[in-house]
Amino acid sequence: MWFDSHCHLNDEAFQNDLSAVLDQARQAGVSGMMVVGYDLPSSIRAIELAHAYDILWASVGIHPHDAKIWGPVVRREIELLLKDSKVMALGEIGLDYHYDYSPRDDQRRAFREQLELADEYRKPVIIHNREAHGDTLQILSEVGVGEAGGVMHCFSGSKETAAACIKQGLYISFAGPLTFKNAKNLAEVAVEVPLDRILIETDAPYLTPHPFRGERNHPGLVPLVGQKLAELKNETVEAVMEITSRNSRNLFKLDVVECETDEK
Ligand code: NI
Repeated sequence: MWFDSHCHLNDEAFQNDLSAVLDQARQAGVSGMMVVGYDLPSSIRAIELAHAYDILWASVGIHPHDAKIWGPVVRREIELLLKDSKVMALGEIGLDYHYDYSPRDDQRRAFREQLELADEYRKPVIIHNREAHGDTLQILSEVGVGEAGGVMHCFSGSKETAAACIKQGLYISFAGPLTFKNAKNLAEVAVEVPLDRILIETDAPYLTPHPFRGERNHPGLVPLVGQKLAELKNETVEAVMEITSRNSRNLFKLDVVECETDEK
């Protein structure tokens, strides 16, 4: 079964037909999805969804776009959310110098402090990095990634950046852009990264894979990313499906939770 390690079913794009979207995902063989928050309302919504549906899990955090709201009050809110039993990660956090919706100083501060918070709560981090490879790596090397590790979501950097991230203990996650016809550099990175360090994701409703570009993305399309990865790595689709799902389950410690639930 497939695992979508990053989607935004908490986005308003899914508010009218979520159960149909989940049916579609199940039919496509997707057995788990990480619903990722980006501000307080979307983090709370991610938790609500994760409690409503067994196959959903939640991540909470403040995205670099909203980093300007980061401060003691928001931090306390995120800490409360982190204690929820279905919150398996802190994110998405990081730096976005493409849009610069928050001042870069605020972005760096929110990123640093949320990395520290993740370590304190022993949660893996989900990192967003757009056109900020240098500062992202700098902060990661200074603050470090906690023992719980993390993932560089929707990876868009070079082979060297990927290697540096792996050295920090991070997984590399590939999304729809891997399937785009002009994704030559990204394909080369995917060939280099060992399969046991790779996650796959949709980032739905964004980044719809080929051949559905232009339509709303949804978790049922994550197999298209996996199929492309299998082709690039000369592996069977089944092997890619199994390994990437296992990687997600290890990172987010899902099997541990499921065993505990079984015992009760
Ligand atoms: Ni995202």
